[in-house]
Amino acid sequence: MENKNELKQLDFPATMKVNEQDHLEIAGVDTIDLANKYGTPLLIYDVATIRKNIQTYKEALKTYRQNAEISYASKAFASVAMYQVIKQENISIDVVSGGELYLAKQADFPAEKINFHGNNKSKAELEEALDYGIDHFIVDNFHELNMLRDLTDARQQPAKVVIRVTPGVDADTHKYIMTGQRDSKFGFDIQSGQAEEGVKIALETDYLQVEGIHMHIGSQIFDTETYLLAMKQVLKHVKYWEEAFAFQLKVFNIGGGFGIQHTPDEKETVFKQQLETISEGLMSLLDQYDLPYPELWIEPGRSIVGEAGTTIYEIGSYKELSGIRRYVSVDGGMSDNIRPAFYGAEYFGLLANRMTEQTKSEFSIAGKACESGDMLIWDLPLPEVNPGDKLAVFNTGDYTFVMASNYNRIPRPAVVFVEDGKDFLAIRRETPEDFMRFENHLPEDF
Ligand code: LLP
Repeated sequence: MENKNELKQLDFPATMKVNEQDHLEIAGVDTIDLANKYGTPLLIYDVATIRKNIQTYKEALKTYRQNAEISYASKAFASVAMYQVIKQENISIDVVSGGELYLAKQADFPAEKINFHGNNKSKAELEEALDYGIDHFIVDNFHELNMLRDLTDARQQPAKVVIRVTPGVDADTHKYIMTGQRDSKFGFDIQSGQAEEGVKIALETDYLQVEGIHMHIGSQIFDTETYLLAMKQVLKHVKYWEEAFAFQLKVFNIGGGFGIQHTPDEKETVFKQQLETISEGLMSLLDQYDLPYPELWIEPGRSIVGEAGTTIYEIGSYKELSGIRRYVSVDGGMSDNIRPAFYGAEYFGLLANRMTEQTKSEFSIAGKACESGDMLIWDLPLPEVNPGDKLAVFNTGDYTFVMASNYNRIPRPAVVFVEDGKDFLAIRRETPEDFMRFENHLPEDF
């Protein structure tokens, strides 16, 4: 690793620069000015990077010689302004709860571009989605299938469904984010015949239109072999279903999961190459099984927003244990980014207000929560740090704000979008007064 605090160590977006004040600038906006304007911790999204990632996906999907569709997995970062950006880019989204659906509706997101996921959708959520007229229901299990059949029968309303299967493959990733293995809470098991039974039930209903099959093998995956193996498992069964009961695969949704680099030591982001290889592989599998090319759907989340996010923290207290470690604490931590504590995720950071200064030694970056596990980064080389310095932590756009909590009653951070020299407050900082919206004082007679 370089021994200078500077923008060389990660594959930073072209919109990131060091300005004349030696500050980190994103999309022409000085991040220190943003920190002064909106406070810290502050999650900054570089919107041009989000748009560029979507374009890269569109390019990569041209490899596939049939229609292809991107459905942004909005669980990675969901907000009204984010849904509006996605709408501008004219791709679909997936939502996994009534809450995400509600926000998408607030953004006037077109119903015909919304796909509904989740392993325990409630009747109320299904009804809300039917009312709005969403595109696909990704049906996860028999309970949901029966509920959706009953609802569409009662309403005499058609609904397009895609059956989610677990192909029975183990992806090379953290066990909390593996989903393609047989022993998973998600989807119909393909090997025991559950998936076939689900498909048959759906085909026999009056109002469910079976469009195809969905699989998702997990998240933060850099290889392509596991996707190919999983697709092969699925197509093997699809071929059999085609012959046995004339099943037609119109849509093949292969999920998301493409990995991104968070630190200089992690594998590089290669989602374009991954997707091109997967598309080629899919076409040759389809040829091999003599199946017509279905529409190819992908559901990336992390790889669309991860590298677009940078969190700015203010440095506060300092503790030195001679010969052991130097701790510096920041004004956020697991309350705005649970990933290090939850998955052991690693991050990289630089001092945003002294970008090119020589690093002095390694500092371990602690969060402010009362939890020893609330450590954002271990042993990060930095220049001498002082209280009030601003630390930029990079590639924090994926699964941070959306997993934020009020632990220790720390308010959630603000989220700012920057593009072409402009900034926009997408989500304002929570305040302790916001907590009182949910609180009641004890009644006198209690
Ligand atoms: N499709 C389905 C059905 C999913 O469950 C997910 C992610 C995606 C697509 C998008 O996957 P992506 O492209 O973002 O990897 N909180 C964890 C990640 C959980 C992923 C949940 N499902 C983390 O912070 O690593």
